[in-house]
Amino acid sequence: MAEEFEPKILGILCNWCTYAGADLAGTSRIQYPPNVRVIRVMCTGRIDPSYVMEAFSLGADAVLISGCHIGDCHYIAGNFKARRRIALTRKLLQEYGIDPRRLKMTFVSASEGALWGEVVKDMVNTIKKLGPSPVQKKSDLHAGPGAAHAADDDLAEIAKFSAGKKLEAAPIQKKA
Ligand code: FES
Repeated sequence: MAEEFEPKILGILCNWCTYAGADLAGTSRIQYPPNVRVIRVMCTGRIDPSYVMEAFSLGADAVLISGCHIGDCHYIAGNFKARRRIALTRKLLQEYGIDPRRLKMTFVSASEGALWGEVVKDMVNTIKKLGPSPVQKKSDLHAGPGAAHAADDDLAEIAKFSAGKKLEAAPIQKKA
């Protein structure tokens, strides 16, 4: 019997709200699917669209970005900026033939552990219906024994890369 498709979802969570909410879900023993591998960032505003594209290129089936509620960002407007960037990135994904539902932004506070569980369940159900990422089909990460491990390794690589990456503003290009 064929194994049920288990989506590999990269979660990029703000340290102050959703990461703490996900932690609360764990300490409260809230049950939810284990499909999300988490990277913690200080604010969703520091998420570059290239992280999302790289995640898909390395075999993620979906990317879930979650941070403070609008108005609660610890850096004032980081989540506003993230929301705008994600809307644009979804359009970009569509251009590449990737269903924009594979990229989602949610707002979960540190006290909303139960909500985090619901967000993950909802995302996993959506991605199960969509099936494996079309990028992934091309790179054949789901084919053959050991393929799941290959995808795991790739996501772990992204996590290591992002965790060790310093946040630096891109230099302003002066016009000649
Ligand atoms: S500090 Fe949480 S989204 Fe900005």
